This record gives sequence, structure tokens and C-alpha cells, in this order.
Amino acid sequence: MSEKPATPHGAENRRGPFRPGDRVQLTDQKRRIHTITLTKGGEFHTHKGVLFHDQLIGAPEGSIVENTNEVRYQALRPLLKDFVLSMPRGATVVYPKDAAQIIQMGDIYPGARVVEAGVGSGALSMSLLRAVGDAGYLHSFERREEFAEIARGNVDTVFGGPHPAWQISIGDFQEKVLETEEPGSVDRVVLDMLSPWECVDAVSTVLAPGGVWVNYVATVTQMSRTVEAIRATGLYTEPESFETMVRGWHVEGLAVRPDHRMVAHTAFLITCRRLADGAVGIPGAKRVKEHTYSAEDLETWTRSQNPEAWHHEALGERGVSDRKLRRAAKDAKSMIQRGSLPAGTEPESTADTEPETGTEGN
Ligand SMILES: C[S@@+](CC[C@H](N)C(=O)[O-])C[C@H]1O[C@@H](n2cnc3c(N)ncnc32)[C@H](O)[C@@H]1O
Repeated sequence: MSEKPATPHGAENRRGPFRPGDRVQLTDQKRRIHTITLTKGGEFHTHKGVLFHDQLIGAPEGSIVENTNEVRYQALRPLLKDFVLSMPRGATVVYPKDAAQIIQMGDIYPGARVVEAGVGSGALSMSLLRAVGDAGYLHSFERREEFAEIARGNVDTVFGGPHPAWQISIGDFQEKVLETEEPGSVDRVVLDMLSPWECVDAVSTVLAPGGVWVNYVATVTQMSRTVEAIRATGLYTEPESFETMVRGWHVEGLAVRPDHRMVAHTAFLITCRRLADGAVGIPGAKRVKEHTYSAEDLETWTRSQNPEAWHHEALGERGVSDRKLRRAAKDAKSMIQRGSLPAGTEPESTADTEPETGTEGN
């Protein structure tokens, strides 16, 4: 039998009894969630009493503890999906349901060479790093330094320090990736940004034949323009476009029904694969009957000749203030220094959380 590899980065601090420095998610009887970081002699105060951290240190994960007023809490380490929905953020994050699809449909595997843009708050970077593992490679590109700072703080917190497979470069993906990656050397490309069609040439240069390109876009107009831009190159398999809806169910005795509320829309995914240079594709585009639409029709729909039409507000997104960004960056940095979520930060309940649309703000 071959020798087992060393424990993957960040795995050890996710198991075993609670230790000082662990982030712990406390859920009370009303399903309210509080996140604390354990310190020897530390105390967690609410208007309903005090819980002593020492009650948890050394206890197994999943313990139920009582505070001074017999309020009971269930104690667990937050999962990645919990952290992503509660961490400091400047930009809209890729939701856990979509990150799962990106890993699967993008075929992100241990050891893969992956490039991604933009980094935003680093939510997707965390899932990509888990999937490529310590021996993989993730190069993330972000045009705004403030976002990169938030992402660094968040990612370092999740992995308990810098991840060996990760690097971030500041700048526009379509330029920077050509300076840093050899042509045909990248296995997977994942883009989550306003205008992925601007990156078609760069992706086509760095992506290896057979490599997978995944795009994550919020609106149908972005989806349409991205698909047409990919198709027009003739360098890819026919793009596949889809979305994922997750509907929770209420299951209690005979009252078994879908939840009343759900996250109805986050974004669309578009995937395709790079063909070999010179290969004449089995033209997926042929399936789209010729002459059923004209260049003018497409222009009316995508406004591609009018760059003014492509800004965040036009896509229903709201900007993010510099003040909010500075605050999120400070919170993200202080988390790794103190090993805790900023005071007052509580994870959102995944069932009831509506996606915060449009905070890309680039
Ligand atoms: C929606 S956010 C990404 C969120 C991120 N995937 C996450 O899960 O936290 C989009 C980001 O793309 C960045 N961006 C937009 N166009 C870019 C480009 N051409 N190159 C690099 N970054 C870009 C923006 O600054 C913004 O931070």
C-alpha cells in the first residue's frame, strides 16, 4: 500500500474536542445562532445570562451546554457554508448551492491548475482550494485591492493561515492571466464577474485543450452575451447554461410540505470545454438554426456595441461604498488575528437567507 499523504491543510483543526481558538456556532432553542471563539476563561454574554467558554473547552463537538440561566445551546464548529454566509464581505458571494455545482460541473479535482476571477470576498476561492487541495494550484485575480484584502482575511481564517496552493494577483484577469500563466497550461477557469465575454481571448490562450471553463453570471442578458461570445470563437464545445434551485422542505409529522420561503435566484452557470487548436468542432452552434436571428436582433438584446449599457446599475446591481469595503477588510483581517468573527456578526440561516444581489462594485 502506498504511504498516506500528510493531513491536508486546515483539516486537523476541524475535528476532535473543542480547543481554545476554535470558532463555535451556538444555536439556542429559538434556532438563533451566535458565533464565538473559545478562549480559556472567556465568557459569552447575552441578556439571558452567561456561558463560560471553559464549559466547552475539552467537550466533544455537538455538546449541549447551559448558561447561568439554564438557556441551552447546541455547540458545533461552523461548516464552510455557515462561514461563507456570515463572513465579512464587500462583493456578493457565490452561494454554497452554486459553489457545489461549480466544483462538480467544472470538474475541479485534487491537483488541478485553476484560475479564477474575480475574487470578491473569497467565498468561491475557499471551495476551489478545498477541491484542488494542497498539491493543486489556484491563482485568483481581482481588480480591486480592497476586495482582495477581504478575501485574504476570510480564506486565511478558514484554513487557519495561508493556503499553500493559493495566490492572488491584483489587476484585470484578461491582462494579468496572460502575464502569469503559460499558454495552454490551465486545467480549469472559473469566472464570476460582470462581463466574462471580455475575457474570451485570454481564456482561450491559457486554457488547455479539454479544459473546462465555468462562468457565473447574475442576469439573462449577461448569460446571452457570454454564450454568444464563446460560440463565436469556434474554440469550445457548445456552452451549457443552467441554474440551480434548492427548495427546503418542512417535515413534521403529517405536515410535510415545501418551505414557504426559498432563495429563488442567485445566478446562472455556463460551462464549456476548450477544443484542440485547429479542431473543427461538431458545431453546437449549428443546432441554433442559421438565419433565425440577425446581428441586429442580437444587438437589441445584448447591447454589445454600447458599453455604456453595461454597468452595474443597468444589471440591477447596487454599488458598494468605500466605507463598507474598508470596514469589511478590517473585520476580515482582525478575524485571523483574533481568531474570531467580528463582534455582533452572526451567521445567517441558510434557509431564510436571500441573496444580497449586486454588490460587485467594480
Ligand atoms: C461578484 S464578485 C466575486 C465574488 C466571489 N466569487 C466570491 O464568491 O466571493 C465579482 C468580483 O469581480 C471583480 N472583477 C470584475 N471584473 C474583473 C476582471 N476583469 N478582472 C478581475 N476582477 C474582476 C470585481 O472587482 C468583484 O470583486
